Amino acid sequence: MDHFLYRDGVLHAEDVPVAEIAAAVGTPFYCYSTATLARHFRLFDEALDGMEHLVCYAMKAASNQAILKTLAALGAGMDVVSGGEYARAKAAGVPGERIVFSGVGKTRDEMRLAIEGGIRQFNVESEPELRALSEVASGLGATVPVTIRVNPDVDAKTHAKIATGKSENKFGIPIARAREVYAEAAALPGLEVIGIDVHIGSQLTDLEPFRLAYRKVAELTETLRADGHDIRRLDLGGGLGIPYTRSNEAPPLPLDYGALIREEVGHLGCEIEIEPGRLVVGNAGILVSRVIYVKEGEGRNFLILDGAMNDLIRPAMYEAHHDIVPINEPDAAVEQAPYDIVGPVCESGDTFAKGRMMPPVAEGDLVAFRSAGAYGAVMASEYNTRPLVPEVLVHGHQFAVIRARPTFDEMINRDTIPEWL
Ligand code: LLP
Repeated sequence: MDHFLYRDGVLHAEDVPVAEIAAAVGTPFYCYSTATLARHFRLFDEALDGMEHLVCYAMKAASNQAILKTLAALGAGMDVVSGGEYARAKAAGVPGERIVFSGVGKTRDEMRLAIEGGIRQFNVESEPELRALSEVASGLGATVPVTIRVNPDVDAKTHAKIATGKSENKFGIPIARAREVYAEAAALPGLEVIGIDVHIGSQLTDLEPFRLAYRKVAELTETLRADGHDIRRLDLGGGLGIPYTRSNEAPPLPLDYGALIREEVGHLGCEIEIEPGRLVVGNAGILVSRVIYVKEGEGRNFLILDGAMNDLIRPAMYEAHHDIVPINEPDAAVEQAPYDIVGPVCESGDTFAKGRMMPPVAEGDLVAFRSAGAYGAVMASEYNTRPLVPEVLVHGHQFAVIRARPTFDEMINRDTIPEWL
């Protein structure tokens, strides 16, 4: 459920008509709903009720400071994957003890930054990384909490580019080698091995792969404890999928996911962490764009929008589907027609949808891409020197620009000219 609904025939973001924001901000822009963000975060938090837990929002999904502050105020921890994300989390007021650091390629500088600023744990993904972290921590006279990410060799049954839990993926250490790697970690100075980490992929619409992975983690917990390791925290990753169409999809709910966690690992008495990104923010954001032209092509009509692949890369990159709806509620009885919906960028990949059935749309009309809150603004670029798409946050009757559209001068003046020119 989200808070982008038609009211009196026009799309609202909570209590604000979307067209009002478009008039103030211009298009394209991302628009987020505070109520939806909060609701989705709470669904996860409540799903783990009764177990000691922390929901660490995977901020790679949407990392605007205002979004982070909204979630932090609800008690969220953060899952970060770079020094930049760590700095963003700290700038939003998240204390180090609520930040976990994931990722296959942490640099020594990033490790140092997080150790000095405070960190809940590092999720380590390889032996060379363990050794580097040991060196850096010891050098700073610190002992840092560590979990090791295991690769359970489970098929997440999602798009190949976002599956991470098969043995051919670059993530984690093979679960079969876990005992050996944990033994090495326990012997290294500067590290305190406290748990196990797993993340098998994103946009999972079936709970079974989670069940298989978590069962393997539960078995490994017992084995490692028998080996003498004090395994007391399990980071179970993110990945729960969202409905991208209104009609036919019904992915599992956070409540069902929480019940599964309780069933598979609840008996171990470990503190539980999860790292949801998409489900927290995906349906809490829309991308609003304006129709520039309706162009008649050969055997097809094009809707040319002012939003493009640089603003929302998911359709071009993952063949992802986003519902695209007019801001003015169409009459249910009106006849729909197929359109290829494209942006102005100079390549054919700048296509959001082909043959998409739409009610009649005219030049100047506003449309909204639904479910665009996750991996939308954060993956945007300035390709074709199109200004980085702005972001707006709605809260009840209020809205605020939380990242402004840069001016042409601001974009150009980021470049510097060498003295010989
Ligand atoms: N934890 C780790 C270690 C991750 O790598 C990810 C996502 C998450 C948590 C959060 O997963 P989520 O709950 O959001 O599914 N750009 C792609 C998605 C990439 C996901 C990368 N890792 C897309 O637009 O679909």
